[in-house]
Amino acid sequence: AFAAETTGELRKFDNVAHRGASGYAPENTIAAFDKARAMKADYIEIDVQRSKDGKLVVIHDTSVNRTTDGTGYVKDLTYEQLQSLDAGSFKGEQFSGEKIPSFEEVLDRYRGKIGILIELKAPELYPGIEEEVAQELRERNMDKPQDNKIIIQSFNFETMKKMNALLPKIPMGVLTSSKAHTTDQALEEFATYADYFNPSYGIVSKELVDKVHALGMKISSWTVRSHEAAQFLIDMKVDAIITDYPDYVDPRMGVK
Ligand code: G3P
Ligand code: CA
Repeated sequence: AFAAETTGELRKFDNVAHRGASGYAPENTIAAFDKARAMKADYIEIDVQRSKDGKLVVIHDTSVNRTTDGTGYVKDLTYEQLQSLDAGSFKGEQFSGEKIPSFEEVLDRYRGKIGILIELKAPELYPGIEEEVAQELRERNMDKPQDNKIIIQSFNFETMKKMNALLPKIPMGVLTSSKAHTTDQALEEFATYADYFNPSYGIVSKELVDKVHALGMKISSWTVRSHEAAQFLIDMKVDAIITDYPDYVDPRMGVK
């Protein structure tokens, strides 16, 4: 983790590469995850969904239209169909041939090498996906604390309650961009099953960071795409910064 010198004390925060180093390489591909490693990020953030025939895959949108040369919903395409798509060219011809990775492939390739922040994306479209994600981690002995840097998060709070029950030793995060989720009551409820409260940076304030910490949770915020946003979150003393540009999160930015 990067260390930031603030008013005398040494403060650490994690640098999380959002969908990999997606500012530089096609999001949610091996190229973007390898780039995040090369840039010394602490974690890659990945979005997990499911193919028609039940394979867990790593892609952000619920359709393949924006990031591949295909069309249709992820849930309506088989793994073979998803594999046949070019998931790199939208970011530049030099990335042609990048594929939609499977969840298994990402776990096997990066475990022990970089932390993995796993987002269950639109889990309401994929009944039972919570148990399937838990099973992939259990099979690899990745369901224990400390051994692997694994965090799970979702905008779907019911899913996160289920994940916490399935994998009680893995840190859980709730995602939101809604101020309605920053009330004392809402935060206290999250703290019953979540270890991280992960808001968009537009709703982050010092008061919010203090409240989240007082409840024993950590706070990771997203999505940094400018040096100013990175500096703002460092000043707010969040625990992790989720960024498309891992190199924008620099330890020297925290020095006052
Ligand atoms: O990790 C936080 C962030 O990924 C949430 O938003 O839309 O990029 O998945 P989104
Ligand atoms: Ca995400």
